[in-house]
Amino acid sequence: MTIRRLPDHLVNKIAAGEVVERPASAVKELVENALDAGARAVTIDLRDGGTVLIRVTDDGVGMTAEELPLALERHATSKLERDEDLDAIATLGFRGEALAAICAVSHFTLTSCARGASEGLRLAGEGGTVKQRLSIPADPGTSVEVRDLFFNTPARLKFLKSPATELAASLRALTQLALAHPAVYLRIANNARAVLTVPATENLRQRVGAVWAHDVAARLLAVDRTEHGVGVRGLISPPDLTRANREEIVVIVNGRPVRDPALLQATLEAYRTWT
Ligand SMILES: Nc1ncnc2c1ncn2[C@@H]1O[C@H](COP(=O)(O)OP(=O)(O)O)[C@@H](O)[C@H]1O
Ligand SMILES: [Mg+2]
Repeated sequence: MTIRRLPDHLVNKIAAGEVVERPASAVKELVENALDAGARAVTIDLRDGGTVLIRVTDDGVGMTAEELPLALERHATSKLERDEDLDAIATLGFRGEALAAICAVSHFTLTSCARGASEGLRLAGEGGTVKQRLSIPADPGTSVEVRDLFFNTPARLKFLKSPATELAASLRALTQLALAHPAVYLRIANNARAVLTVPATENLRQRVGAVWAHDVAARLLAVDRTEHGVGVRGLISPPDLTRANREEIVVIVNGRPVRDPALLQATLEAYRTWT
């Protein structure tokens, strides 16, 4: 038996499988980065449900030419500095893993221009390695383009579902993020066709109307209560407005959509006693 240290690119490739399971996970991570960057508008362009192309463009703070190469490295983040920060995470990301993971298993192009900078930087490459570096005029903000996800991980590639199924998974993730962040404008297109466009809204009810339907949104009952230091806010349907599955029950904790059966149950119980 010989123990070896794995080379970086192999470590990244293995780790990538844990972070990026399918196109929808990449879409979610990239949009979360845009939200963390304070974007007011996020555009998501997909080709074949994200299996061929995912492009997420935002108008957030952007990255400087010094920062951009770092963003690609594993465990590099601007969101966590000291041990104590771990107990007070205010951003969606903090591990510094997503971008490195996504780029490790794709053909990628990162373009970013920091607010106030006179020009932007574009890095392009594949399998986590930068092959091209270019200064370009760019609008403030960031655009991440991911092509041929899993091109170098055949096992993952084999498990991709049809473009329609992968698109549906991305839309589920995006709908939840849209509900969690009502003020942000979102536009999602697949194969150059608009799939979902959500205008910036002032509150959750307006956002539910924009994402699902205004007549549904108008009928939902508001809940807003704080107990034991935990605030629960949201909208719940009256008894005659039902769905056959739980797909449209969305639980958001501190801006983060979560799927947790116990938490869902507790939320439903609380809503039942309060309404
Ligand atoms: N859209 C973006 N706008 C501005 N900065 C970004 C964007 N995407 C990524 N970054 C920068 O790259 C870093 C690494 O991103 P990521 O790998 O997703 O890790 P994390 O979000 O956990 O910090 C972020 O901490 C941030 O500084
Ligand atoms: Mg992130």
